[in-house]
Amino acid sequence: MEHTLMADNKKVYIFENPHALSNFLFKRWLEMAKNAIHQNGRFLVALPGGKTPSEFFCKLSLLKDFELWQKIHVFLTDERFVPVNHLRSNFRMLSDNLLNYVHIPTKNIHKMDTHFDTVYTAAESCDHDMKDFFGSLPAAQARFDLVILGVGEDGHTASLFEGEYDQYQKDKFVIPVSSQFIENDRISLSLPVINKARHVMFLVMGDNKSEIIRQILSGSSTVPAARILPEDGHISFLLDRTAAKNLNYRSSTEMVDDAIVL
Ligand code: 6PG
Repeated sequence: MEHTLMADNKKVYIFENPHALSNFLFKRWLEMAKNAIHQNGRFLVALPGGKTPSEFFCKLSLLKDFELWQKIHVFLTDERFVPVNHLRSNFRMLSDNLLNYVHIPTKNIHKMDTHFDTVYTAAESCDHDMKDFFGSLPAAQARFDLVILGVGEDGHTASLFEGEYDQYQKDKFVIPVSSQFIENDRISLSLPVINKARHVMFLVMGDNKSEIIRQILSGSSTVPAARILPEDGHISFLLDRTAAKNLNYRSSTEMVDDAIVL
């Protein structure tokens, strides 16, 4: 096992179980939301699809602070090019686990609309909408306060897959992703937009992610998830102990809220 050296803006938190991870993230969400609202009047967050975040979304659905939700804007990190009521829709998963249970105004929910003929026209429309939204903000605020991401076993994150070189497009908030290797065409936040975020948090759980997370944290990987390096933001990896099993943290003594910190 290699020792993982952490840059100043990079932290790894290792939790005994998914429940402890969700509790930690709930507290951090509240802190970051209140700070962003105090500083900029709003909290801009992008949330992922997949299975990992569902427990956290369910916990967050218990947050009934009406005033807070009026100033929170929820975006998606990516979407499958399927109807919004499709079982593989990320927006459907997010709605079923969170949005249907909290007092968030409809205008604060920014889904990636897939009601278009092609993923290309859908991505173009979504990019236009995001430019409209972020363009109305002062440049220093035209960034996400928080982007939560998952990681696939192949090292993809959001819908940025190996070899999809459009992801580097600097003038795009979102890009279309069409590949023979994925079940559905996708719309994804671009790499530059994610790397502008104030804070990126990876949620990674499960034994099947232990090898890819070891590679990413070793600093030697070039998979898309390893290219997430916030320019002047922070990056945190929230792992359960099964995903962290290949990391060398026996010597770590720092503890925060039931998490071992690397
Ligand atoms: C998606 C996600 C994707 C996900 C990873 C991990 O639309 O599928 O945005 O990037 O985060 O594939 O998925 P799991 O959490 O299901 O392992």
